[in-house]
Amino acid sequence: MIREDIDLRRFNTFGLPAVAERYLPLTDTEQLGDPEFRTAPTLVLGGGSNLLLLEHIPGLTVHVLLSGIEWSDDRGRFRVRAGTDWNQFVRYTLEAGFPGMENLILIPGTVGAAPVQNIGAYGAEVAEFITAVHAWEYGRGMVELSPEDCAFGYRDSRFKRETGRFLITAVDFDLSERRPLKLEYGAIGAELAAAGIDTPTARDVAGAVTRIRRSKLPDWFFYGNSGSFFKNPVVPRDHHARLQEKHPDIPAYPIDDDHVKLAAGWLIDRAGLRGQGNDRVGSYAGQALVLVNRGGASGRDVLAFSGLVQERVAEQFGVELEPEVQLTGSPA
Ligand code: EPU
Repeated sequence: MIREDIDLRRFNTFGLPAVAERYLPLTDTEQLGDPEFRTAPTLVLGGGSNLLLLEHIPGLTVHVLLSGIEWSDDRGRFRVRAGTDWNQFVRYTLEAGFPGMENLILIPGTVGAAPVQNIGAYGAEVAEFITAVHAWEYGRGMVELSPEDCAFGYRDSRFKRETGRFLITAVDFDLSERRPLKLEYGAIGAELAAAGIDTPTARDVAGAVTRIRRSKLPDWFFYGNSGSFFKNPVVPRDHHARLQEKHPDIPAYPIDDDHVKLAAGWLIDRAGLRGQGNDRVGSYAGQALVLVNRGGASGRDVLAFSGLVQERVAEQFGVELEPEVQLTGSPA
């Protein structure tokens, strides 16, 4: 049933005030046959953890509440409904004896949102485990997309590029293949060594990632945020070489023969903005790439501060930062 003028503040982890003109909880795929689903809604809401909402959300907001495991087998294959909490699903797979996604533990959001921006952390990306995405194509009906159809990239997919075409209802995962643990990224190795673990299991890695994330990233329960606010920028090699002359310690990850990925958090930090901001919004002191709601921030406040961050980083390093979060709505 559609409700009007619903406050979305508690449905977005940034804690930003926003009123949805019309709001529809999706609890059953049968509802997709309703006339509302012939065209795309303004906003498809999952866990609300990658959003920057402005005050007014016109039109229809659909809240995907389809939840739970729809199907699984004893080889480690799962079909999971889109509204299921991502972290809960990762924990479930580990407890059921199917390692693989331990590096992706504790990422906020839902299973259905995971393929949209191809969530990733500590050297792993969700695309590695997805075998199919089930979606409602507006004006058409239910479709099944293969991983190739999804066109996954770094924090990117067809669902992000073709907004307004699909509503994801379920995702298929295959964890049957035994993969080597990914220990080389970030502080995982150091964290395991500090705990005295030299032959780690997937659960040990999950524990290490949990501790690292908790120490670096703010808990949105206390400090509203949407994780990394910007993507890590990819620049041509010669641009990186020029920056490296001035800043020999600049972190960089090779992408291909001609391009290098830089760390947006480092750039913001070195631009002098880590922990800076005003009384409503700022950059988090523990990880500059995360912008936080210090209390009472609006979407406009966050947008204004993010613009300042972009300006300073462009001035100082000649690098354009592109938001990773999805901007929706209009000022009230
Ligand atoms: N750094 C600084 N200062 C800072 C922050 C970072 O100097 O304030 C440096 C770090 O020392 C490190 C480099 O920048 O050398 C990269 O930092 P980090 O390892 O913390 O990772 P990140 O590149 O900032 C990415 C993802 C995170 C993910 C982590 C761990 C993106 C945009 N972000 O962050 O994902 O958790 O790696 O894998 O790719 C998210 O997408 O919302 C998210 C939190």
